[in-house]
Amino acid sequence: MAAPATLLNSSVGKKIVMAITGIVLSLFVLGHMAGNLQAFLPNGPEALDHYGAFLRELLHGTGIWFVRGALLLAVGLHAWAYLSLTQKSWAARPKGYQVNDFEEATFASRSMRWTGPILAVFIVYHLMHLTVGNVHPRFVEGKVYQNLVTGLAPVPVALFYVLAMGCLAFHLWHGAWSMLQTLGLSHPKYLAARKVFAIAFTVLVTGGFVVVPLAVLAGVLK
Ligand code: HEM
Repeated sequence: MAAPATLLNSSVGKKIVMAITGIVLSLFVLGHMAGNLQAFLPNGPEALDHYGAFLRELLHGTGIWFVRGALLLAVGLHAWAYLSLTQKSWAARPKGYQVNDFEEATFASRSMRWTGPILAVFIVYHLMHLTVGNVHPRFVEGKVYQNLVTGLAPVPVALFYVLAMGCLAFHLWHGAWSMLQTLGLSHPKYLAARKVFAIAFTVLVTGGFVVVPLAVLAGVLK
């Protein structure tokens, strides 16, 4: 068996790192999306505030830092693996040759180059907006529902969230598809199943996220 360092330096090892960190991040977005949907419950404001308090108090306040640390590590490794894979394939390609050899150059695969950076910018802004509150003029510590609704009320902010969720859709679609391939479902007989899973997961997660800013814009959440 290859030593861990050798495996990490290989393309296969990096693809496995991308797949595993992708799964961790996908589970996070799935859970986060489901948590946000509590805003639509009849007791939405209390439900969301309690949920936020529960997360912050988990394991006497240390749980949230484990989660934050794990997410940061996952994002860092995910980006590192992608960048070193693309660098390798760019270095290997003949001058002027446009196709990236580590993935088939579909529109969704090419889009990873810009959806990844846009999502990184979104995440930094999103944390400053709804977690730290320093770019949210009406932020009140612990008032998760109120911060959400007042924070998404300005149209440009809500539209930025909608745009970011569009990027998330492309990213998840191609990411889920590639992840299943890396994990062994590359045989043509799994093609249809991979397509269905990638599309269903993308629609579920991004659909569940995007209804929140849209509902604030439409005055459904207030
Ligand atoms: C429309 C889309 C989204 C909405 C409405 C939303 C809403 C929220 C809210 C209200 C919080 C604060 C929770 C609290 O203080 O308890 C939060 C935190 C957070 N969100 Fe989102 N979110 C969205 C999309 C995303 C996406 C796509 C990601 C990641 C890819 C993400 C990552 C995070 C992270 C990392 C936190 C901080 C958790 C912590 O450490 O306290 N969010 N989000």
